[in-house]
Order: sequence, then C-alpha cells, then structure tokens
Amino acid sequence: MGQEVILIVDDNPANRDMLARRIQQLGYEYDEAENGIQALEKLRENSYDLVLLDIMMPLMNGFETLEKIMDDSDLRQIPVIIISAIDDMTSVVKCIEMGAEDYLPKPFNAILLKARISSLLEKRRLRDAEIQRLTELNAMKDQFVRTVSHDLRNPITIIRGYADVILDLNAGSDVDDFAQRIRRSADRMLELVNDLLDLAKIESGIEMNFAPTPLAYFLGLQMGEFDLMARNKNITLSYEAPPDSLTLQLDAQRFTQVIHNLLSNAIKYTPPGGRVLLTAFEENDAVIIQVSDNGLGIPDEDIPFLFDKFYRVDTDEHKVEKGSGLGLSIVKAIVEAHDGKIGVESRLGEGSTFYVSLPLQVPVN
Ligand SMILES: Nc1ncnc2c1ncn2[C@@H]1O[C@H](COP(=O)(O)OP(=O)(O)O)[C@@H](O)[C@H]1O
Ligand SMILES: [Mg+2]
Repeated sequence: MGQEVILIVDDNPANRDMLARRIQQLGYEYDEAENGIQALEKLRENSYDLVLLDIMMPLMNGFETLEKIMDDSDLRQIPVIIISAIDDMTSVVKCIEMGAEDYLPKPFNAILLKARISSLLEKRRLRDAEIQRLTELNAMKDQFVRTVSHDLRNPITIIRGYADVILDLNAGSDVDDFAQRIRRSADRMLELVNDLLDLAKIESGIEMNFAPTPLAYFLGLQMGEFDLMARNKNITLSYEAPPDSLTLQLDAQRFTQVIHNLLSNAIKYTPPGGRVLLTAFEENDAVIIQVSDNGLGIPDEDIPFLFDKFYRVDTDEHKVEKGSGLGLSIVKAIVEAHDGKIGVESRLGEGSTFYVSLPLQVPVN
C-alpha cells in the first residue's frame, strides 16, 4: 500500500506550509490547494485519503467546497477535517452537520493534529478493509448459490425421471398418485433451481446475443405456448400485435423468459373467467410491450419491492399460487440488459398491467 496522501486546502501559504511540515513529520504525503475550486479539481483528478479544509477562502470558501464534495458520490467517501479559528464554533458546527468528520482549531496544536489525522485515517483503513471483506463474502455467497443450484439439478432430474418411469408402469391408483406428487415436487424444485441459476448468470453479466427480431412474430410464438394454460383455467388470452415491420435487437432466448414470466404471472394471478391481454406498440422513441390482466391486482405497499428477489405478495389469494418470487427479478435483469425499463400499474382486486419499455435502437453487443 502506498503512503496515504492528505490534501491541504488553505489560502494562507504560511498555514499550508506549517501543515505540510507536520504531515511530513507524521509520515504521510501531502498536496496543496489555495481555494475550493483548485481543491475540487485536484480531488477529481487524484486520489486522497483525507482533506484538511479551511473555511474562509477567496473564490470558493470551505462551505461551498464541502457542499460540492458531499454532492459527489466518489468524493463523499473522503473524510474532511475543517480548519477553523478557535472562536468560530458556529462554522464548525455547520460543517459537521454538512458531513465533515472533525475539526482542527487554529493555531495548530501538534499533538491534536496528530491524534485527529491518525484516528481518521485508521477509521478509513478499517472501513476499507470491511468493505473489501464484505465484497469477498458476497462473491463467495454468489458462488455458493451457483454451485449448489448446479449440483442440485442432476439429482432432481433423476428423481423426476424415475417418477415418470413409475407413472408409465400404470401400477395402480395409489402408486400413480404418489408418483404424480413426486413428479410435481421435483418440477417445482427444478424450476426454483433453474431460476436461481438464471439469475446468478444474468447478474454476473453473461454476454447477450442480440439479433434483429421481428417483434409481432416473436410475441405470437410466445402466445401459442400459453393457449392451453389459459384455456385450462378458463381465462381469455388475447394479443394485439405490433406492426409486422417492427424489428428489435433482442436476445431472443432471454427475452422469451421475460414474456414467459409476465404471461404466466398474469394467468397465475387471475381467477378463472378473467382476461389477459398482450399488446405491443411504438410510443415516441420506444416500444412498449404490455401484459395486462383483470386479476388479483397488487397492494400499493408491495409495488416498490415486487421486482426484488424472492419477494411475493402476502395475501391469501396470492399465496395459493406456488412460486419462488424470482420470476420478476429475472425479468427486470433481462429487460435492463436490453437497456429497457419495466414497471407496473395495479389496483388490488381490479388487475395489473406490467409494461416493458425498450429503446427503438438497442445497442448491438
Ligand atoms: N399479474 C399479477 N397479478 C397479481 N400479482 C402478481 C402478478 N404478477 C406478479 N404478482 C405478484 O408478484 C410476486 C412476484 O412475482 P414473481 O417474481 O414472478 O414470483 P412468483 O414466483 O411468486 O410468481 C408474485 O408472488 C405475486 O404475488
Ligand atoms: Mg412468477
């Protein structure tokens, strides 16, 4: 690790000089700025571990400088110590409220200077180490989920396979019934494991395979797959296709999952007798794909979390349907990988409309 660098911001050369000498004695490196403007330039260009900031300076004073530092998500991480006259407590309080970490009264006291600087730098070192540790833990956890999901897939497939074999034997009602249950449970496990794997892949930034895709045709194919599911539940499924000429850059395999999840949710969370409609149309510079239903709807308070991993609505009606709560987070990740946005409008008891908005020009990878 290189030596820690402290930026001294003060318009008074004698003050800067004095601080510089002390800092060197403490074994740190330093850099200097005469006012706020210069300080911000340097802060954006180089990396510093600590800023000593004077309040009264020409061109840009300490308050403005501090405000700009706190507004910048990169600079905000750097601790700031305010340099102030001993009798100017109002300014110090104001700066601390604005986000400064500590203050040093003028004239400088060598022992206090040393204590404040080294304790802040130590705090920062500990925090950086903690961030590093959490990042590593998080990566390990992701890897763990990936490995477990992957390793579970084989045994589940085998269980499913043998359940099918038993069903083929037509062994009698009890056995068939048990085999059906095994089969259904294995299917659910496989679905969950596949969702986990998909999400892990998408989140780790798999490469997308964009290709020009005629949207009307693409959506028509998806519709075909849900005919039976809708009919079995006595739901009217309809489709208002976009113009045939409309072509988008899509990763067709991934984008199939988007439509698949939205349509299966709409059918799942709409009681028999209801309607589900898929539409797509151009609006300004975007293409909107919409899946609406007149089903259960979603409580207002759940909407902000709906696209979070594992989030499911907690009403009795929603809970009857089985699911992992991963579908919509996968949908969101894929839509965002297409530079798109997803949103929902819904009223509890009246229905929901999920819309995906894609820019007309999606960048080719
Ligand atoms: N069309 C819809 N109508 C009502 N609720 C919905 C609809 N789509 C999704 N939801 C709610 O959002 C939750 C999250 O959806 P999703 O991520 O696909 O998970 P799940 O595996 O539960 O389907 C669902 O559990 C459900 O409560
Ligand atoms: Mg779902």
